[in-house]
Amino acid sequence: MPGTQRELTLRFLAEPADVNYGGKVFGGAVMKWIDQAGYALASAWSGRYAVTVYVGGIQFENPIAIGSLVEVRARLLHTGTTSMHIGVDVHAADPRAADATPRRTTHCIIVFVAVDDARQPATVPVFVPTDDEQRELQAYALRFMDLRRGVEAERRAFLQRFDPAGE
Ligand SMILES: CC(C)(COP(=O)(O)OP(=O)(O)OC[C@H]1O[C@@H](n2cnc3c(N)ncnc32)[C@H](O)[C@@H]1OP(=O)(O)O)[C@@H](O)C(=O)NCCC(=O)NCCS
Repeated sequence: MPGTQRELTLRFLAEPADVNYGGKVFGGAVMKWIDQAGYALASAWSGRYAVTVYVGGIQFENPIAIGSLVEVRARLLHTGTTSMHIGVDVHAADPRAADATPRRTTHCIIVFVAVDDARQPATVPVFVPTDDEQRELQAYALRFMDLRRGVEAERRAFLQRFDPAGE
């Protein structure tokens, strides 16, 4: 039911097809998993098709070995009128060491917008935090949004100067 599921985790093994030229998982594969987990949560929360509009703060902290057990956890942090701000954490562990603590490899915020059949932004159920942890997560998303405004101003100035034809 829309407006109920605020968290999900994808679990799978990093496959040989995900390898980069250095023998570890390709960064593009990790970004795809982030998008997939975010999409699954955004569509469950909104009950609609949703499109990615922004990914921020992504950093590859640790490499992932092929054959690792990967967990991609998506958590709803904040909703706007049509947007859903989702925090995604990627952890990986060697499945042969069942008691090993999975290591974080990536964290980012990804924003999805729910769209209607005409691909126009559509309203989403409001996320109302119900405990301190959820309030903290929402405050993080709001601070991140503020920081993004500064980044966006820089980005716009750069594009006007170096890629005006793309506007
Ligand atoms: C997503 C899209 C439909 C939004 O259209 P739009 O005309 O920008 O709509 P709006 O200006 O009303 O913005 C809609 C929401 O997106 C949010 N948004 C837009 N740009 C954003 C950005 N860079 N970062 C975060 N949120 C953003 C707005 O804040 C708004 O949220 P709110 O309704 O919760 O306040 C349009 O930008 C689009 O189609 N983008 C391409 C999406 C895509 O192809 N993704 C990759 C494949 S899925």
